[in-house]
Amino acid sequence: MGLKVLLVGGGGREHALAWKLAQSPLLGQLYCAPGNAGIAEVAECVPLGAEDVGGLLAFARRAGIDLTVVGPEAPLVLGLADAFRQAGLKVFGPSKRAAQIEGSKALAKEIMAGSGIPTARFRVCGTPAQAREAARELGPPVVVKADGLAAGKGVVVAATLEEADRAISQAMEEAAFGASGLKVVVEERLSGAEASLLAITDGRRALPLLPARDYKRALDGDRGPNTGGMGSICPLPEGGPPLDMLSGLILLPTLNALAGRGCPFCGLLYAGLMLTAEGPKVLEFNARFGDPETQAILPLLESDLLEVLAAAVQGCLEGVGLRWSPGFAVCVVLASGGYPGPYKTGFEVSGLDRARASPGALVFHAGTARGPGGGVVTSGGRVLGVTALGATPAQARERAYAAAACIEFGGLQRRNDIGGEGMPL
Ligand code: AMP
Ligand code: GLY
Repeated sequence: MGLKVLLVGGGGREHALAWKLAQSPLLGQLYCAPGNAGIAEVAECVPLGAEDVGGLLAFARRAGIDLTVVGPEAPLVLGLADAFRQAGLKVFGPSKRAAQIEGSKALAKEIMAGSGIPTARFRVCGTPAQAREAARELGPPVVVKADGLAAGKGVVVAATLEEADRAISQAMEEAAFGASGLKVVVEERLSGAEASLLAITDGRRALPLLPARDYKRALDGDRGPNTGGMGSICPLPEGGPPLDMLSGLILLPTLNALAGRGCPFCGLLYAGLMLTAEGPKVLEFNARFGDPETQAILPLLESDLLEVLAAAVQGCLEGVGLRWSPGFAVCVVLASGGYPGPYKTGFEVSGLDRARASPGALVFHAGTARGPGGGVVTSGGRVLGVTALGATPAQARERAYAAAACIEFGGLQRRNDIGGEGMPL
């Protein structure tokens, strides 16, 4: 009998995970909560929210789930992995305490400083006066970061002291991010190209995935507001630092530090890097797969993902290696008009089959649902991720855009420079 797997989440990242897990010969049955219209083609969707920890636990017990894989950070920070482990269930995802590496930027910086992990010079500040002083001491330009989770909106890169002071007031005095901003990290601004380093971990060992790059800004040429990610490319077109070096410099010291604090990290450790002239430095950690990096990384993975995740939750990553296809993958996100601001949903999506039949292409659903007539309709800000494989970055990019051009829906918005020559800096 194959494994019964529960995947938690319902975005593009989870569709890529579901698509990959569904290919495993070890799989018996795949469930996804809540899933989306695309995930429903490879998994049985369960109508439970990703943050409904009690409901998910009851379902996992009832259904006899062998392994739960958590996509988003919110359920981890709420303690989903702790609740499942206490109930004797296997889960790929860190405990609430270990997930604080993402949930608290102050903690992440303290761990980095304590372990000699390269990062921007910083101060953790508990009062606005301290933060203003830190901004003057370190910069400008400086970066002001709300300590807690702020849906990607808690980071301000401030060119001047006035901008820094405004960001400090917003977070600390106007509580724009609620309790998340009562403490802030002020740090020096770094420059360089960004890279996302994701690693599967068993608490002690790290198995890095091929590094990827996401394109965070809404508009071409890296202009416009920050988004969850408008596209991605994997591996880095310019090569980037060797994985062994990144493991030794960043991943292993982080795992050791967390284990040393009594909260070993078993799950997906994601280091957001700036590749500076002085070498790679960590901007942030996340406790989960990146979105949309995952949609470009997993199509290149030849190894059985389920086998690797099952080994990780058993604490047995020793000797496990990953096999990769040669070439590149580019993922172009198709978003709702207005995203990341307000947008309308419920538009009929056409051309999905033609896009899927396009050479080298895969279509991952993010914000989609079935409409009243049975067709696929838009239901979120990021609607689809169209990934294509190619021998070169240029071929992957051309194929991704050729497939993306098949798809239409009202208000469709996308970037036209994903995987292109100009690197987002
Ligand atoms: P974070 O959530 O910490 O990754 O920050 C979000 C984005 O802000 C990053 O992807 C960078 O583009 C930018 N950023 C964060 N920290 C810095 C820094 N120290 N220097 C320059 N840019 C930064
Ligand atoms: N693409 C950035 C993230 O997943 O946090």
